[in-house]
Order: sequence, then structure tokens, then C-alpha cells
Amino acid sequence: MAKKRILVTGGTGYIGSHTSVELINEGFDVVIVDNLSNSSIDMLDGIEKITGVRPDFEQFDLCERDKLQNLFKKYPDIEAIIHFAASKAVGESVEKPLLYYRNNLTSLINVLEVMNENPKVSLVFSSSCTVYGQPDVLPVTEEAPIKKANSPYGNTKQIAEEIIQDTIAANPAVKTIALRYFNPIGAHKSALIGELPLGVPQNLIPFVTQTAIGLRQQLSVFGNDYNTTDGSCIRDYIHVVDLAKAHVVAIKRLVENKNKANFEIFNLGTGNGVSVLEILNAFEKATGVKVNYKIVDRRAGDVEQVWADTRYANDELGWKAQSTLEETLRSAWDWEKYYRSKN
Ligand code: NAD
Ligand code: WQD
Repeated sequence: MAKKRILVTGGTGYIGSHTSVELINEGFDVVIVDNLSNSSIDMLDGIEKITGVRPDFEQFDLCERDKLQNLFKKYPDIEAIIHFAASKAVGESVEKPLLYYRNNLTSLINVLEVMNENPKVSLVFSSSCTVYGQPDVLPVTEEAPIKKANSPYGNTKQIAEEIIQDTIAANPAVKTIALRYFNPIGAHKSALIGELPLGVPQNLIPFVTQTAIGLRQQLSVFGNDYNTTDGSCIRDYIHVVDLAKAHVVAIKRLVENKNKANFEIFNLGTGNGVSVLEILNAFEKATGVKVNYKIVDRRAGDVEQVWADTRYANDELGWKAQSTLEETLRSAWDWEKYYRSKN
């Protein structure tokens, strides 16, 4: 049987590269579109070394609709799209909101328009737990109310989900699964692909590993006066490979017509809330490296605590995050060491 072809937008990025590996391992053909605005072409080498297959790659900006239309002429057998491509830096989105609205929404609209023209193509969309803001009830389920976004980036994810729903209402052929990621961390066990933040990392784990390796002097822990067990914020940190595997499950659900509605939403997390200080302890336990840190003021816009109710994803998708926190942190550390030894 011919392999099914999947378009992975943003496929040289952090989550897209890990997902491309899992798709190839599961027998899919992958074509990646990325404009390399936040990733390196070298990720293709990593994907090839891990899987033995170099995915097809097209470098262009998804805001250019004609290029996307031409891609579907070149690959008329694309069966589904995983749309990762987006700008994702929360702080930058506050300073450059229009850049975020333009990039994240124009690229999505183009993807949906091309789906209207190619009715058999379905979509997996990268959404985020950011749509929940600070939930009233924890763990947070998919039914929790959407709170006002606390950044333009977060708002693009809320608006994106609405745009998709409205599109499906008008054209039920546009089948979509939106996956709301919690905090993806870690790297492939080979250490051949991983997270590559540009400049000073804004996210916790890259800052931790860069401090551990000596690139940064000290980690700032943003607040220890929250209403949590140790006063630091709580998140649900999920291994990126577990997250990637959930995409393969979602793709199979769509291409095998096993979806129960034309628009489905799943939380992707571990179901465990872990504080910043617990992360630092677990990192030391996992790697033997103590991270130099100081407590500083709260960071504006941070939610106090959020973690996923994963029952719906576990039961309905038959998927569950497998990795322990220590394995996950060790993989982030192995990637940092490998990457720095090469660059
Ligand atoms: P990433 O920046 O590593 O990957 C995104 C990729 O998309 C990059 O390779 C970038 O070059 C590409 N891209 C951006 N705009 C493009 C455009 N207009 N045309 C073509 N390519 C473009 O980010 P990631 O962490 O892999 O995130 C993937 C998706 O998951 C994003 O939609 C992000 O918002 C979402 N998400 C990420 C997290 C997280 O913590 N990493 C959490 C929740 C949701
Ligand atoms: C985690 C915790 C910080 C850095 C962001 C986006 C969210 C989603 C995931 C895409 C928080 C603390 C961090 C540091 C720290 N992305 N921290 N010192 O804020 O949960 O979520 O990425 O959709 O939308 O907002 O992740 O890694 O930035 O922070 O103490 O130097 O670590 O306060 O409690 P966050 P993060």
C-alpha cells in the first residue's frame, strides 16, 4: 500500500522535527514546509540520521498562499496537514502584536483555504494551554471556559480555534483536531534534534540547561510567593517525544475517519503539576548538575498554576505520556551538551 503523505508546516522547528521523526517511523511520507524564521535547516540532517529518511522540504512563507497552492499541485496526494508553523514568543508578541496576528492567522487562513480547495485533506492544529489562562478548576479539562488571553500570542491561538470552527461550520469537509499542548520540553533520545531557542531563552528548561552548561550565570526563578506548595509556579511539563507521538495518533484518527466530530480538541499533558523549584531539584537528580539560581519578582502575565486533565486524550486517543520527569530533563541536558559540543 502506498504511504500516506502528510504536510508538516513548521517541520524543522522544535515540535515539528520530533513529530516528523515519529511520522516517518510510523510509515508516513513527510513533506515539510518551513521558512526557517525560527529553525535551522540542519534539523533535516538530524531527522535523516534518526530515521534513515530525509523528508521532502520546501522553504517558503505560509503567508504566501500561491506557494501553498503550488505545493498541493506538486504533491496532490497530501492527506493531512499538521500546522505547527507560527511565531511563539509571548514577550515578543506583546511588543509586535501585528507581526503575530499576521503570521499566525494569515498562515492558518491560507492552510484552511487550501483545504477548501482540497476537500479530502484534514488538519491537526497546534493549540496551547494558554487558551485557558488561569483555570478556576484544576486539573483543567477541554470544557473549561476560555479566558481572556494575556498576550497577543495567546490570542492568536484562541482566534485560530474560532476561525477553524467557523470554517468547519461552513464546510464540514474540513476535519480538524486541535491539540492543546501544555509545556513541551526535552529532546529526542539520540540528541540529534532538540529545542534551539534564538538568543536568551524565555522558557524555563532551555534557560536551565544553558545555565547548567555555563552559558548563563544564573537562572531567575520568577516568584516564590504564589499560592502553591513551595510558592513557585506550577506547570505540566511533557516530553516532546510523547507529544510528537500524540500527533501520529491524531493523524491516524483523521485519515482513518475515526474522529467522532469534525472539530475535536484534546489536552496534551502528563496530568502532573510540577513547580519551578521541583524542576530544579529533579534536574539535579537526573543529571548531577546543580543549577545556580536566585528568586526574583514575579514575571508579568504568568499564570500561577495549570496542569492538564488528560483523561479525554487518554481514553479517546488511547495515548498517554510515558516518560518520567527525570528522563525528560536528562534528554534536554543531553541535547544541550551535544549541541554545544558541535557549535
Ligand atoms: P518553533 O518556533 O520551534 O517551530 C515553528 C516553526 O515554524 C519554525 O521552524 C519556524 O521557522 C516556522 N514558521 C513560523 N512562521 C512560519 C511561516 N509563516 N511560514 C513557514 N514557516 C514558519 O516552535 P515549536 O515550539 O515547535 O511550536 C510549534 C507550534 O506549537 C506553534 O504553533 C506553537 O505556537 C505551538 N505551541 C508551542 C508550545 C511550546 O511551548 N513550544 C506550546 C504550545 C503550543
Ligand atoms: C515555565 C515556568 C515561569 C523562565 C509558555 C507560554 C505558553 C506555552 C508554553 C506556547 C513559569 C518560570 C521561566 C525563567 C522562571 N507556549 N520561569 N525563570 O510561561 O508556562 O508557557 O510556553 O503556547 O503559551 O506562555 O513557560 O517555560 O516560560 O515558564 O522561573 O527564566 O518557569 O515563571 O512559571 P510558560 P515557561
